[in-house]
Amino acid sequence: MKELRLTHPISWLDGIDLRTGKIIQPDHPQRGESIAGKVLYIPHSIGSTVGAYVFFSLRKYGTAPLKIILEEPDSITISAELAGIPVELKGGRKLKLEDPEVPDEFRRYLEKEASISGAEGFVRVSSVHISGVSYATIGDAGKEWLEEMKERVRFRVLATTNPLGMDLTKWREMGVPESFASGQLSIVESLLQMGAIPSFTCTPYLVGNLPHFGEHISWGESSAVAYANSVLGAKTNREGGTKTIVSAATGYTSLYGRHLEINRRPDFRVKPPEMEGLSDYYALAFLVGREYPNAVPVYLVSGSVPEMKALSAAGAASGSIEIFHVPGVTPNPLQSVDREVEVTRSELRGVYEELSTFDGGTDLVVLGCPHLSLQEFRTIAQMVNGRRATTRFWLYTSRAVLSMVERSGLKTVLDRFGAETWADTCMVVSPLEDMGVRKVTTNSAKAAKYLRTLRGLEVEFLDLKEILERYSVPR
Ligand code: F3S
Repeated sequence: MKELRLTHPISWLDGIDLRTGKIIQPDHPQRGESIAGKVLYIPHSIGSTVGAYVFFSLRKYGTAPLKIILEEPDSITISAELAGIPVELKGGRKLKLEDPEVPDEFRRYLEKEASISGAEGFVRVSSVHISGVSYATIGDAGKEWLEEMKERVRFRVLATTNPLGMDLTKWREMGVPESFASGQLSIVESLLQMGAIPSFTCTPYLVGNLPHFGEHISWGESSAVAYANSVLGAKTNREGGTKTIVSAATGYTSLYGRHLEINRRPDFRVKPPEMEGLSDYYALAFLVGREYPNAVPVYLVSGSVPEMKALSAAGAASGSIEIFHVPGVTPNPLQSVDREVEVTRSELRGVYEELSTFDGGTDLVVLGCPHLSLQEFRTIAQMVNGRRATTRFWLYTSRAVLSMVERSGLKTVLDRFGAETWADTCMVVSPLEDMGVRKVTTNSAKAAKYLRTLRGLEVEFLDLKEILERYSVPR
């Protein structure tokens, strides 16, 4: 049996070429090696929770590894079991889930997960957030699995849903191809038939899926996971998209990782330079996530909701940061730590340079990764009032927030500026490359990373103030 031992974590969503099984993650030292048909040893995964669906595609194309052996428990990689790829972790012990109402296939999966992850048992969850619902990211293999599930699965707990690959009411206006829309609509139908809430947002905590402090939940969408653990004080691991279906169908997850207090304690403080704008929060967490992918940092910053969203999204995109602390802002108990990491202005500047592949002359500005809150819409409306866009601006949010933006009059200001606002979808999970876009500008480090690696676009990462200076003029 051929073996491949990865020295660095892998991002399943955008780190493997599905057709060849080769590693394509730009910064991976074993880039170019193939995982197909091998016993694959990995430390753990990083990046998006949608990566869990990649295993179905690897199976479909015959490029799956024979077996995966994990060094650390990792919910996303464990999801490979659902696609028939065996996953092991040394030293697991057998646990039994005693609930006759849990369907057998999911009981077996949860028991295997608990054993692999060294769990203490199982815990009921009060809510689920389902990631991996865009046709652009889960493809036909994921769509077919959901079609199969819808025939026999009904959700037992509140289950909200992540963004789709298109705005459900204006996809034609967006330029989304018919063939894509048909795949996407089939996924929506499967989810709704199982009992999912059609929230279609990566900010479920802004639209009613709001767990309280200490509550156990099972959430996918890495940015929402970090927000729930850190800002709300709820407890969840970074669950893979397929695992969220299992939790929604059973009402359970395994008790390990961030469900246990011991794994929520801080590792070190991060002292940044003076923060100059929202994008600095993205750049800071991107840097920390990349250098310390599994850490629990304490950021010495002040913080609004948009800034917490930025820290949540970026640290989980470059690494797998599931929980952080901000003194005076986040509610988890904060033990003192001795170690301090200082981040300089020039290191932050380096992130802007690293994530940008062009400088000026964009096709499209995209804002709303994670989805824009009402507060962010208000800020943007104030900044663009009296100006006119000189290129296309697309803003992304949930349908629930969009309705308030429309009713509050903020939408009129944005329309006057020349911005389009979309709901149900986002820039990363919609097929922008098929919609004539080549160069895209964003203020989110997470979007910047994935627009390049997943959508194959040229990217410019800038703070909103600079974006408006470049791409708008006074009226
Ligand atoms: Fe949300 Fe899409 Fe960004 S799901 S966090 S807007 S990549």
